[in-house]
Amino acid sequence: MTVHSPDLDSFSRATPVRLWEDGFALDPYRHYEALRAQGPVGWGELAPGVPAYVVTGRRAALDLLHDTESFSHDPRPWESTVADDSPILGMMRWRPNTLFADGAAHVRYRTSLIDTFDGIAPHDLRARVHRAVRVLVGRFGPRGEADLVGDFARPLMALVFNSLFGLPDNQSDRLDVALGKMMEGGAEAAEGEAEYGGYVLELIAAKAAEPGDDLPSRLLAHPAGLTPEEVTWQVFLTLGAGHEPTANLVSNALSRILGNPTFYSTLTSGARPVMDAVVEVLHHETPLANYGIHFARNSLSFHGAWVRAAVPVVISYGALAHFAERDAPGERHPRDASHLSWSAGPHACPVKQHTLLIATEAIERLTQWLPDLEPVLPRARLTWRPGPFHRSLTSLPVRFSPRSPDQPGGPS
Ligand code: HEM
Repeated sequence: MTVHSPDLDSFSRATPVRLWEDGFALDPYRHYEALRAQGPVGWGELAPGVPAYVVTGRRAALDLLHDTESFSHDPRPWESTVADDSPILGMMRWRPNTLFADGAAHVRYRTSLIDTFDGIAPHDLRARVHRAVRVLVGRFGPRGEADLVGDFARPLMALVFNSLFGLPDNQSDRLDVALGKMMEGGAEAAEGEAEYGGYVLELIAAKAAEPGDDLPSRLLAHPAGLTPEEVTWQVFLTLGAGHEPTANLVSNALSRILGNPTFYSTLTSGARPVMDAVVEVLHHETPLANYGIHFARNSLSFHGAWVRAAVPVVISYGALAHFAERDAPGERHPRDASHLSWSAGPHACPVKQHTLLIATEAIERLTQWLPDLEPVLPRARLTWRPGPFHRSLTSLPVRFSPRSPDQPGGPS
Protein backbone atom coordinates (compact mmCIF):
# COMPACT_ATOMS: atom_id res chain seq x y z
CA MET A 1 0.00 0.00 0.00
CA THR A 2 2.83 2.43 0.70
CA VAL A 3 5.36 1.49 -1.98
CA HIS A 4 6.16 4.48 -4.18
CA SER A 5 5.98 3.93 -7.91
CA PRO A 6 6.72 6.93 -10.16
CA ASP A 7 4.32 5.46 -12.76
CA LEU A 8 1.45 5.96 -10.38
CA ASP A 9 2.16 9.69 -10.12
CA SER A 10 0.37 10.24 -13.43
CA PHE A 11 -1.89 12.99 -12.03
CA SER A 12 0.92 15.51 -12.14
CA ARG A 13 0.54 15.35 -15.93
CA ALA A 14 -3.30 15.25 -16.02
CA THR A 15 -5.46 18.36 -16.51
CA PRO A 16 -7.10 19.02 -13.15
CA VAL A 17 -10.88 19.41 -12.97
CA ARG A 18 -11.42 23.01 -11.82
CA LEU A 19 -13.84 23.17 -8.91
CA TRP A 20 -13.32 26.92 -8.59
CA GLU A 21 -14.51 27.97 -12.04
CA ASP A 22 -17.98 29.45 -12.66
CA GLY A 23 -18.89 26.42 -14.79
CA PHE A 24 -18.67 24.24 -11.69
CA ALA A 25 -21.51 26.08 -9.97
CA LEU A 26 -23.51 25.91 -13.21
CA ASP A 27 -23.10 22.17 -13.67
CA PRO A 28 -21.24 20.35 -10.91
CA TYR A 29 -22.37 16.96 -12.22
CA ARG A 30 -20.33 17.33 -15.42
CA HIS A 31 -17.30 18.01 -13.26
CA TYR A 32 -18.05 15.01 -11.05
CA GLU A 33 -18.32 12.79 -14.13
CA ALA A 34 -14.94 14.11 -15.35
CA LEU A 35 -13.40 13.32 -11.97
CA ARG A 36 -14.95 9.87 -11.86
CA ALA A 37 -13.63 9.14 -15.35
CA GLN A 38 -10.17 9.26 -13.71
CA GLY A 39 -11.16 6.59 -11.15
CA PRO A 40 -12.39 6.72 -7.53
CA VAL A 41 -9.68 9.30 -6.79
CA GLY A 42 -9.44 12.12 -9.34
CA TRP A 43 -7.26 15.19 -9.76
CA GLY A 44 -8.88 18.58 -9.24
CA GLU A 45 -8.12 22.20 -8.41
CA LEU A 46 -9.67 24.06 -5.44
CA ALA A 47 -8.39 27.48 -6.52
CA PRO A 48 -6.15 28.52 -9.41
CA GLY A 49 -2.87 26.65 -8.89
CA VAL A 50 -4.10 24.80 -5.77
CA PRO A 51 -4.44 21.11 -6.72
CA ALA A 52 -6.18 18.40 -4.72
CA TYR A 53 -7.07 14.75 -5.03
CA VAL A 54 -10.84 14.43 -5.14
CA VAL A 55 -12.50 11.23 -3.95
CA THR A 56 -15.71 10.35 -5.82
CA GLY A 57 -15.86 6.61 -5.07
CA ARG A 58 -17.86 5.51 -2.02
CA ARG A 59 -15.53 2.66 -1.02
CA ALA A 60 -12.48 4.92 -1.32
CA ALA A 61 -14.24 7.64 0.70
CA LEU A 62 -15.15 5.25 3.52
CA ASP A 63 -11.65 3.79 3.59
CA LEU A 64 -10.11 7.24 3.79
CA LEU A 65 -12.53 8.60 6.40
CA HIS A 66 -11.74 5.69 8.73
CA ASP A 67 -8.00 5.45 8.09
CA THR A 68 -6.55 7.79 10.71
CA GLU A 69 -3.17 6.06 10.52
CA SER A 70 -2.49 6.99 6.90
CA PHE A 71 -4.41 10.28 6.76
CA SER A 72 -4.40 13.36 8.96
CA HIS A 73 -6.67 16.41 9.24
CA ASP A 74 -3.73 18.70 9.97
CA PRO A 75 -3.15 21.01 6.98
CA ARG A 76 0.08 22.64 8.21
CA PRO A 77 2.51 20.71 5.96
CA TRP A 78 0.39 21.79 2.97
CA GLU A 79 0.00 25.40 4.10
CA SER A 80 3.68 26.08 3.65
CA THR A 81 3.26 25.26 -0.08
CA VAL A 82 0.48 27.82 -0.64
CA ALA A 83 0.78 31.58 -1.26
CA ASP A 84 -0.04 33.61 1.87
CA ASP A 85 -2.79 35.48 0.04
CA SER A 86 -4.47 32.42 -1.49
CA PRO A 87 -8.26 32.86 -1.12
CA ILE A 88 -8.61 29.19 -0.24
CA LEU A 89 -6.79 29.55 3.07
CA GLY A 90 -9.86 30.96 4.82
CA MET A 91 -11.53 27.54 4.61
CA MET A 92 -8.45 25.35 4.94
CA ARG A 93 -5.93 27.03 7.25
CA TRP A 94 -5.06 25.18 10.46
CA ARG A 95 -6.67 26.35 13.68
CA PRO A 96 -6.73 24.66 17.10
CA ASN A 97 -10.20 23.14 16.74
CA THR A 98 -11.85 19.78 16.24
CA LEU A 99 -11.84 19.89 12.43
CA PHE A 100 -8.06 20.24 12.09
CA ALA A 101 -7.09 17.98 15.00
CA ASP A 102 -6.20 14.30 15.12
CA GLY A 103 -6.10 11.74 17.94
CA ALA A 104 -6.42 12.84 21.57
CA ALA A 105 -6.63 16.56 20.73
CA HIS A 106 -9.51 15.80 18.38
CA VAL A 107 -11.38 13.82 21.03
CA ARG A 108 -10.95 16.64 23.55
CA TYR A 109 -12.27 19.34 21.21
CA ARG A 110 -15.04 17.23 19.74
CA THR A 111 -16.32 16.01 23.11
CA SER A 112 -16.57 19.56 24.43
CA LEU A 113 -18.59 20.60 21.38
CA ILE A 114 -20.90 17.58 21.51
CA ASP A 115 -21.55 18.07 25.24
CA THR A 116 -22.29 21.73 24.66
CA PHE A 117 -24.75 21.05 21.86
CA ASP A 118 -26.31 18.19 23.85
CA GLY A 119 -27.22 20.82 26.44
CA ILE A 120 -29.72 22.36 24.02
CA ALA A 121 -33.12 20.76 24.47
CA PRO A 122 -35.03 20.11 21.22
CA HIS A 123 -38.01 22.20 22.42
CA ASP A 124 -35.66 25.11 23.15
CA LEU A 125 -34.06 24.91 19.71
CA ARG A 126 -37.49 24.63 18.09
CA ALA A 127 -38.64 27.76 19.95
CA ARG A 128 -35.54 29.68 18.79
CA VAL A 129 -36.18 28.67 15.17
CA HIS A 130 -39.86 29.67 15.42
CA ARG A 131 -38.89 33.01 16.88
CA ALA A 132 -36.36 33.63 14.11
CA VAL A 133 -38.92 32.74 11.42
CA ARG A 134 -41.38 35.15 13.00
CA VAL A 135 -38.79 37.96 13.05
CA LEU A 136 -38.05 37.39 9.36
CA VAL A 137 -41.70 37.11 8.30
CA GLY A 138 -42.16 40.40 10.16
CA ARG A 139 -39.48 41.93 7.91
CA PHE A 140 -40.52 40.66 4.48
CA GLY A 141 -44.07 39.29 4.95
CA PRO A 142 -45.88 42.61 4.36
CA ARG A 143 -44.07 43.03 1.00
CA GLY A 144 -45.70 39.97 -0.60
CA GLU A 145 -42.37 39.08 -2.20
CA ALA A 146 -38.98 37.92 -0.94
CA ASP A 147 -35.74 36.19 -1.78
CA LEU A 148 -35.80 33.06 0.35
CA VAL A 149 -31.99 32.91 0.33
CA GLY A 150 -31.11 36.52 1.24
CA ASP A 151 -34.28 37.34 3.20
CA PHE A 152 -34.85 33.98 4.85
CA ALA A 153 -32.37 31.05 4.92
CA ARG A 154 -29.16 33.01 5.53
CA PRO A 155 -30.46 35.54 8.08
CA LEU A 156 -32.39 32.73 9.75
CA MET A 157 -29.20 30.85 10.56
CA ALA A 158 -27.49 34.04 11.69
CA LEU A 159 -30.43 34.76 14.02
CA VAL A 160 -30.50 31.21 15.41
CA PHE A 161 -26.74 31.16 16.05
CA ASN A 162 -26.78 34.65 17.52
CA SER A 163 -29.40 33.57 19.97
CA LEU A 164 -27.54 30.32 20.83
CA PHE A 165 -24.38 32.36 21.35
CA GLY A 166 -26.20 34.90 23.47
CA LEU A 167 -25.81 37.84 21.07
CA PRO A 168 -28.43 40.44 20.15
CA ASP A 169 -30.22 40.13 16.80
CA ASN A 170 -28.53 43.25 15.45
CA GLN A 171 -25.21 41.34 15.22
CA SER A 172 -26.62 38.70 12.88
CA ASP A 173 -26.27 40.61 9.57
CA ARG A 174 -22.57 41.17 10.23
CA LEU A 175 -22.04 37.43 10.68
CA ASP A 176 -24.01 36.52 7.60
CA VAL A 177 -22.04 38.83 5.27
CA ALA A 178 -18.59 37.81 6.58
CA LEU A 179 -19.27 34.08 6.26
CA GLY A 180 -20.66 34.46 2.75
CA LYS A 181 -17.46 36.16 1.53
CA MET A 182 -15.23 33.56 3.15
CA MET A 183 -17.10 30.56 1.78
CA GLU A 184 -17.05 31.77 -1.83
CA GLY A 185 -13.24 31.67 -1.65
CA GLY A 186 -12.98 34.64 -4.06
CA ALA A 187 -11.29 38.05 -3.93
CA GLU A 188 -13.14 39.08 -0.77
CA ALA A 189 -12.34 35.86 1.13
CA ALA A 190 -9.53 37.33 3.25
CA GLU A 191 -11.71 40.32 4.18
CA GLY A 192 -14.55 37.95 5.10
CA GLU A 193 -12.22 35.84 7.24
CA ALA A 194 -10.96 38.95 9.08
CA GLU A 195 -14.50 40.27 9.67
CA TYR A 196 -15.64 36.88 10.87
CA GLY A 197 -12.63 36.57 13.18
CA GLY A 198 -13.42 39.98 14.68
CA TYR A 199 -17.00 38.94 15.32
CA VAL A 200 -15.99 35.74 17.16
CA LEU A 201 -13.19 37.39 19.16
CA GLU A 202 -15.56 40.05 20.47
CA LEU A 203 -18.11 37.37 21.34
CA ILE A 204 -15.69 35.27 23.41
CA ALA A 205 -14.18 38.26 25.17
CA ALA A 206 -17.70 39.35 26.20
CA LYS A 207 -18.63 35.85 27.44
CA ALA A 208 -15.36 35.38 29.31
CA ALA A 209 -16.02 38.67 31.10
CA GLU A 210 -19.69 37.96 31.74
CA PRO A 211 -20.82 34.31 31.30
CA GLY A 212 -24.43 33.64 30.43
CA ASP A 213 -26.71 30.75 29.58
CA ASP A 214 -25.29 30.27 26.09
CA LEU A 215 -23.00 28.00 24.06
CA PRO A 216 -19.72 29.93 24.37
CA SER A 217 -20.15 30.28 28.13
CA ARG A 218 -20.78 26.53 28.41
CA LEU A 219 -17.71 25.80 26.29
CA LEU A 220 -15.61 28.09 28.50
CA ALA A 221 -16.85 26.21 31.59
CA HIS A 222 -16.50 22.69 30.08
CA PRO A 223 -14.40 20.21 32.15
CA ALA A 224 -12.09 19.73 29.13
CA GLY A 225 -10.59 23.04 30.31
CA LEU A 226 -10.36 24.77 26.93
CA THR A 227 -8.50 28.08 27.02
CA PRO A 228 -10.38 31.19 25.82
CA GLU A 229 -8.30 30.99 22.63
CA GLU A 230 -9.32 27.38 22.04
CA VAL A 231 -12.95 28.27 22.71
CA THR A 232 -12.65 31.09 20.20
CA TRP A 233 -11.55 28.61 17.54
CA GLN A 234 -14.29 26.09 18.39
CA VAL A 235 -16.87 28.83 18.01
CA PHE A 236 -15.19 30.08 14.84
CA LEU A 237 -15.52 26.58 13.42
CA THR A 238 -19.01 25.93 14.73
CA LEU A 239 -20.46 29.04 13.17
CA GLY A 240 -18.58 28.49 9.93
CA ALA A 241 -19.43 24.80 9.75
CA GLY A 242 -23.04 25.35 10.73
CA HIS A 243 -24.27 28.62 9.26
CA GLU A 244 -23.53 28.21 5.55
CA PRO A 245 -24.37 24.53 5.05
CA THR A 246 -27.59 24.73 7.05
CA ALA A 247 -28.72 27.91 5.28
CA ASN A 248 -28.02 26.10 2.01
CA LEU A 249 -29.82 22.97 3.18
CA VAL A 250 -32.90 25.10 3.90
CA SER A 251 -32.82 27.07 0.64
CA ASN A 252 -31.98 24.05 -1.52
CA ALA A 253 -34.89 22.16 0.06
CA LEU A 254 -37.24 25.12 -0.41
CA SER A 255 -36.25 25.39 -4.06
CA ARG A 256 -37.04 21.71 -4.59
CA ILE A 257 -40.37 22.00 -2.78
CA LEU A 258 -41.47 25.13 -4.66
CA GLY A 259 -40.22 23.77 -7.98
CA ASN A 260 -42.60 20.83 -7.62
CA PRO A 261 -46.24 21.96 -7.07
CA THR A 262 -47.42 18.44 -6.25
CA PHE A 263 -44.76 18.12 -3.60
CA TYR A 264 -45.69 21.52 -2.18
CA SER A 265 -49.39 20.69 -1.92
CA THR A 266 -48.74 17.34 -0.22
CA LEU A 267 -46.45 19.17 2.15
CA THR A 268 -48.84 21.98 3.08
CA SER A 269 -51.70 19.50 3.48
CA GLY A 270 -49.53 17.54 5.91
CA ALA A 271 -49.56 14.39 3.75
CA ARG A 272 -45.81 14.50 3.29
CA PRO A 273 -43.21 15.54 5.85
CA VAL A 274 -40.66 18.28 5.18
CA MET A 275 -37.99 15.74 6.05
CA ASP A 276 -38.59 14.17 2.63
CA ALA A 277 -37.46 17.35 0.90
CA VAL A 278 -34.43 17.65 3.17
CA VAL A 279 -33.42 14.05 2.46
CA GLU A 280 -33.83 14.72 -1.26
CA VAL A 281 -31.39 17.61 -0.96
CA LEU A 282 -28.84 15.42 0.78
CA HIS A 283 -29.08 13.10 -2.21
CA HIS A 284 -29.22 15.65 -5.03
CA GLU A 285 -27.74 18.94 -3.89
CA THR A 286 -25.87 18.38 -0.71
CA PRO A 287 -24.88 21.76 0.71
CA LEU A 288 -21.31 20.89 1.71
CA ALA A 289 -20.42 19.55 -1.72
CA ASN A 290 -16.69 19.03 -1.31
CA TYR A 291 -14.82 19.03 1.97
CA GLY A 292 -13.52 16.33 4.30
CA ILE A 293 -10.02 17.60 3.64
CA HIS A 294 -7.31 15.09 4.56
CA PHE A 295 -3.56 14.88 4.06
CA ALA A 296 -1.58 11.67 3.58
CA ARG A 297 0.95 11.43 6.44
CA ASN A 298 3.34 9.80 3.93
CA SER A 299 2.88 9.48 0.17
CA LEU A 300 0.98 6.29 -0.61
CA SER A 301 -0.89 4.35 -3.23
CA PHE A 302 -4.59 4.64 -2.57
CA HIS A 303 -7.40 3.17 -4.69
CA GLY A 304 -5.34 3.35 -7.86
CA ALA A 305 -3.82 6.79 -7.31
CA TRP A 306 -0.42 7.80 -6.03
CA VAL A 307 -1.32 10.27 -3.29
CA ARG A 308 1.49 12.59 -2.35
CA ALA A 309 1.90 13.86 1.21
CA ALA A 310 1.03 17.52 1.85
CA VAL A 311 -1.46 17.65 -1.05
CA PRO A 312 -5.12 17.91 0.03
CA VAL A 313 -7.36 14.90 -0.49
CA VAL A 314 -10.94 16.11 -0.64
CA ILE A 315 -14.07 14.01 -0.22
CA SER A 316 -16.64 15.00 -2.82
CA TYR A 317 -19.86 14.54 -0.88
CA GLY A 318 -21.63 16.06 -3.89
CA ALA A 319 -20.20 13.46 -6.26
CA LEU A 320 -20.90 10.61 -3.83
CA ALA A 321 -24.53 11.74 -3.53
CA HIS A 322 -24.78 12.15 -7.30
CA PHE A 323 -23.45 8.67 -8.03
CA ALA A 324 -25.53 7.07 -5.24
CA GLU A 325 -28.61 8.69 -6.77
CA ARG A 326 -27.64 7.77 -10.31
CA ASP A 327 -26.96 4.16 -9.37
CA ALA A 328 -30.11 3.72 -7.23
CA PRO A 329 -32.69 6.46 -7.99
CA GLY A 330 -36.09 6.74 -6.29
CA GLU A 331 -37.75 7.34 -2.95
CA ARG A 332 -35.48 7.59 0.05
CA HIS A 333 -35.84 6.58 3.64
CA PRO A 334 -34.72 9.43 5.94
CA ARG A 335 -32.04 7.18 7.37
CA ASP A 336 -30.67 6.14 3.98
CA ALA A 337 -27.19 7.67 4.14
CA SER A 338 -25.79 6.34 0.87
CA HIS A 339 -25.04 10.01 0.06
CA LEU A 340 -22.52 10.33 2.96
CA SER A 341 -23.49 14.02 3.22
CA TRP A 342 -22.76 14.04 6.95
CA SER A 343 -19.43 12.32 6.31
CA ALA A 344 -18.36 9.23 8.30
CA GLY A 345 -15.65 8.20 10.73
CA PRO A 346 -14.28 10.26 13.61
CA HIS A 347 -14.93 13.68 12.01
CA ALA A 348 -18.54 13.04 10.87
CA CYS A 349 -20.88 15.96 11.53
CA PRO A 350 -21.48 15.95 15.29
CA VAL A 351 -24.70 17.98 15.18
CA LYS A 352 -26.68 16.27 12.47
CA GLN A 353 -29.84 15.92 14.62
CA HIS A 354 -29.83 19.60 15.60
CA THR A 355 -29.34 20.56 11.98
CA LEU A 356 -32.23 18.42 10.78
CA LEU A 357 -34.46 19.92 13.44
CA ILE A 358 -33.49 23.49 12.48
CA ALA A 359 -34.02 22.88 8.75
CA THR A 360 -37.35 21.05 9.02
CA GLU A 361 -38.81 23.42 11.63
CA ALA A 362 -37.76 26.48 9.63
CA ILE A 363 -39.39 25.25 6.43
CA GLU A 364 -42.52 24.03 8.18
CA ARG A 365 -42.95 27.28 10.06
CA LEU A 366 -42.38 29.44 7.00
CA THR A 367 -45.00 27.54 5.00
CA GLN A 368 -47.42 27.85 7.94
CA TRP A 369 -47.03 31.62 7.91
CA LEU A 370 -47.04 31.88 4.12
CA PRO A 371 -48.96 28.90 2.71
CA ASP A 372 -49.17 30.27 -0.84
CA LEU A 373 -45.48 30.75 -1.66
CA GLU A 374 -45.00 30.83 -5.40
CA PRO A 375 -41.62 30.75 -7.16
CA VAL A 376 -40.93 33.71 -9.47
CA LEU A 377 -38.50 31.71 -11.64
CA PRO A 378 -38.62 28.13 -12.87
CA ARG A 379 -36.05 26.01 -11.04
CA ALA A 380 -33.88 25.63 -14.14
CA ARG A 381 -33.29 29.40 -14.19
CA LEU A 382 -32.03 29.65 -10.63
CA THR A 383 -28.32 30.42 -10.31
CA TRP A 384 -25.69 29.04 -7.92
CA ARG A 385 -22.85 30.80 -6.12
CA PRO A 386 -19.34 29.95 -7.22
CA GLY A 387 -16.97 28.16 -4.87
CA PRO A 388 -15.48 24.66 -4.67
CA PHE A 389 -16.99 23.68 -1.33
CA HIS A 390 -20.67 24.53 -1.32
CA ARG A 391 -23.88 24.02 -3.30
CA SER A 392 -25.53 27.32 -2.65
CA LEU A 393 -28.28 29.20 -4.48
CA THR A 394 -27.65 32.86 -5.30
CA SER A 395 -31.29 33.69 -4.69
CA LEU A 396 -34.74 32.13 -4.57
CA PRO A 397 -37.33 34.80 -5.44
CA VAL A 398 -40.93 34.10 -4.40
CA ARG A 399 -44.33 35.83 -4.27
CA PHE A 400 -47.13 35.30 -1.77
CA SER A 401 -50.15 37.01 -0.23
CA PRO A 402 -48.74 39.78 1.98
CA ARG A 403 -49.03 39.14 5.67
CA SER A 404 -47.72 40.43 8.96
CA PRO A 405 -47.10 38.13 11.92
CA ASP A 406 -49.32 40.44 13.97
CA GLN A 407 -52.36 39.52 11.88
CA PRO A 408 -54.61 36.96 13.54
CA GLY A 409 -54.58 33.36 12.32
CA GLY A 410 -50.83 32.61 12.28
CA PRO A 411 -49.21 29.50 13.70
CA SER A 412 -49.42 29.24 17.47
C1 HEM B 1 -26.02 23.61 13.14
C2 HEM B 1 -25.39 23.28 12.02
C3 HEM B 1 -24.05 22.56 11.97
C4 HEM B 1 -23.01 22.60 12.86
C5 HEM B 1 -22.91 23.39 14.14
C6 HEM B 1 -21.99 21.72 12.33
C7 HEM B 1 -20.78 21.49 12.96
C8 HEM B 1 -19.80 20.65 12.50
C9 HEM B 1 -18.51 20.45 13.13
C10 HEM B 1 -18.04 21.16 14.38
C11 HEM B 1 -17.83 19.57 12.39
C12 HEM B 1 -16.39 19.08 12.62
C13 HEM B 1 -16.42 17.77 13.38
C14 HEM B 1 -15.05 17.18 13.60
O1 HEM B 1 -14.10 17.54 12.89
O2 HEM B 1 -14.91 16.36 14.53
C15 HEM B 1 -18.69 19.19 11.29
C16 HEM B 1 -18.36 18.28 10.34
C17 HEM B 1 -19.11 18.06 9.24
N1 HEM B 1 -20.37 18.57 8.94
FE1 HEM B 1 -21.46 19.72 10.13
N2 HEM B 1 -22.41 21.18 11.16
C18 HEM B 1 -23.66 21.69 10.88
C19 HEM B 1 -24.41 21.46 9.76
C20 HEM B 1 -24.02 20.68 8.70
C21 HEM B 1 -24.73 20.53 7.45
C22 HEM B 1 -26.03 21.20 7.06
C23 HEM B 1 -24.01 19.67 6.70
C24 HEM B 1 -24.33 19.15 5.32
C25 HEM B 1 -25.37 18.41 5.07
C26 HEM B 1 -22.85 19.28 7.46
C27 HEM B 1 -21.90 18.39 7.03
C28 HEM B 1 -20.73 18.11 7.71
C29 HEM B 1 -19.70 17.25 7.19
C30 HEM B 1 -19.72 16.57 5.84
C31 HEM B 1 -18.69 17.22 8.13
C32 HEM B 1 -17.37 16.44 8.06
C33 HEM B 1 -16.23 17.41 8.01
C34 HEM B 1 -15.53 17.46 6.74
O3 HEM B 1 -16.10 17.20 5.67
O4 HEM B 1 -14.34 17.81 6.82
N3 HEM B 1 -22.89 19.90 8.66
N4 HEM B 1 -19.89 19.85 11.38
